[in-house]
Amino acid sequence: MKQKKFYITTPIYYPSDNLHIGHCYTTIIADCLARYKRMRGYDVRFLTGTDEHGEKLEKAALEKGMQPLEYIDGIVNNIEKLWATLEISNDDFIRTTQPRHKEIVQKIFSKFLEKGDVYLGTYEGNYCIPCESFWTDAQLDEDGNCPDCHRPVEKRTEESYFFEMSKYADRLVKYYQDHPGFIEPIERQNEMLTNFINPGLEDLSVSRTSFKWGIPITENPDHVIYVWIDALANYITSLGYLSDDDSLFQKYWNDDDTEILQLVGKEIVRFHTIYWPIMLFSLGLRLPNKVYGHGWLIMKDGKMSKSKGNVVKPEILINRYGNDALRHYVLSQIVLGSDGTYTPELFIESINTDLANKLGNLLNRTVSMVDKYFNGTIKDNDASTSFDRNLISTSKLVIENYEKHMDEYHIDKANHEIFDLINALNKYIDDTQPWVLAKDESKKDELEKVLINLCNGLYQVGIMLKPFLIHASDSIFAQLGINNVEYDSIYNFNFNKGYSVKKGEPIFNRLDVEKEVAFLSGNKDE
Ligand code: MSP
Repeated sequence: MKQKKFYITTPIYYPSDNLHIGHCYTTIIADCLARYKRMRGYDVRFLTGTDEHGEKLEKAALEKGMQPLEYIDGIVNNIEKLWATLEISNDDFIRTTQPRHKEIVQKIFSKFLEKGDVYLGTYEGNYCIPCESFWTDAQLDEDGNCPDCHRPVEKRTEESYFFEMSKYADRLVKYYQDHPGFIEPIERQNEMLTNFINPGLEDLSVSRTSFKWGIPITENPDHVIYVWIDALANYITSLGYLSDDDSLFQKYWNDDDTEILQLVGKEIVRFHTIYWPIMLFSLGLRLPNKVYGHGWLIMKDGKMSKSKGNVVKPEILINRYGNDALRHYVLSQIVLGSDGTYTPELFIESINTDLANKLGNLLNRTVSMVDKYFNGTIKDNDASTSFDRNLISTSKLVIENYEKHMDEYHIDKANHEIFDLINALNKYIDDTQPWVLAKDESKKDELEKVLINLCNGLYQVGIMLKPFLIHASDSIFAQLGINNVEYDSIYNFNFNKGYSVKKGEPIFNRLDVEKEVAFLSGNKDE
């Protein structure tokens, strides 16, 4: 059978400053899905990177008295280190200042010109520097500020190339109609139609002459290419589109069989569901299967931002609590598509409740009982208890739902399914009371069967958790004494006919809430 292919991308981050846990959120979601697809046998390509051009970065460097690249290199280095520390499993990391990207972006722009989709004109408008966006008077907010970030805009007139977006508007609307689910959540598609497409798509200014930090247009090098055109192209330049060796491009993009998922924060859905598809139409290329606009990780006092002084540094969380704790928090507590809150209290609670109490205890109790009552080794038998059927049907249902949610990229829901099975296993211990069975020699087989069932359930939990808790899942297998794990074994509850457990350290320790909250509250990046 032909191996299925999956291409997943994160937005490429601005290296204007070090990243915070809000940025980690996007990357961790992508990593979780990439790991899931690999586990399901897909040939996966996972891309992330940095968006390094534009006036904002030029200004940030100048303020520090540095050349743009000198300034950016240091931050990009930190970003790459952060992803390595977080064990992000990306296959490539694109920087838009790399020659492999710049050369192709120039070729792409030339193609737009050749096609007649781009023309030279003059621009008069309101420019928002932080958002790198021009706005018409009608688009400004009620205070005359940028409608996205609500900061003041500048009036500007300049010669500019324009992309005739309206040429493709009908095709775009038809594409939305013919491909339900192209934009998720659906409200974001409605926003695009109501706010941008239905009122009439305006031609987009796609070059700048007011600064130099960008990719020059080959045909007119006084102009640099608009940073969003430059940035969006990364998804195909990184695959070698229009380069001598375009095999990755052919494999992961230019094949309708490849499932392509692009994850983006809600504020950049517009760029990915209007400009990007139109660029692809113009180039005669296919569109991604889905653009998923996720919500923000917000603090009690609003979106995390350096200027508010409420930035949480991921390194602090990782060093103290480990990758799994951070992964668990962002993957389980935030409904994909909606905003989610971060507070130190919620973060510590999620470790204590889910990881230490529910999961950690379950493993610990199970392995301890196998140790205590059977010297660490148990074998399957034909005994049963009145609670088994319930447990087995819960596990079957959980696996079905887990796969459905993961295949639809609803990772928070999939995570909750796993915890439903963990809860069912904990309840199974309370119901069957193995410590009572252990007192009655005639119940030995029943006791052994109860423990086998618990190990089987934990084995399934370990498999489903693999994309979520990359260390804890390994610890579960190690403590259950399992070396080889195959995903498909999950469908058979009795796949393992015996266990020789190896008791280990608790996988998560319960934390002192007050002490940790005080630590986290004192460690903000003011
Ligand atoms: N460079 C552009 C993307 C170009 S993609 C062709 C950009 N960069 S960014 O660094 O500002 O943001 C990158 C991503 O991080 C966005 O998807 C954004 O939504 C996400 N996040 C930034 N802060 C966030 C939170 N507080 N919470 C969740 N995601 C957040 O936009």
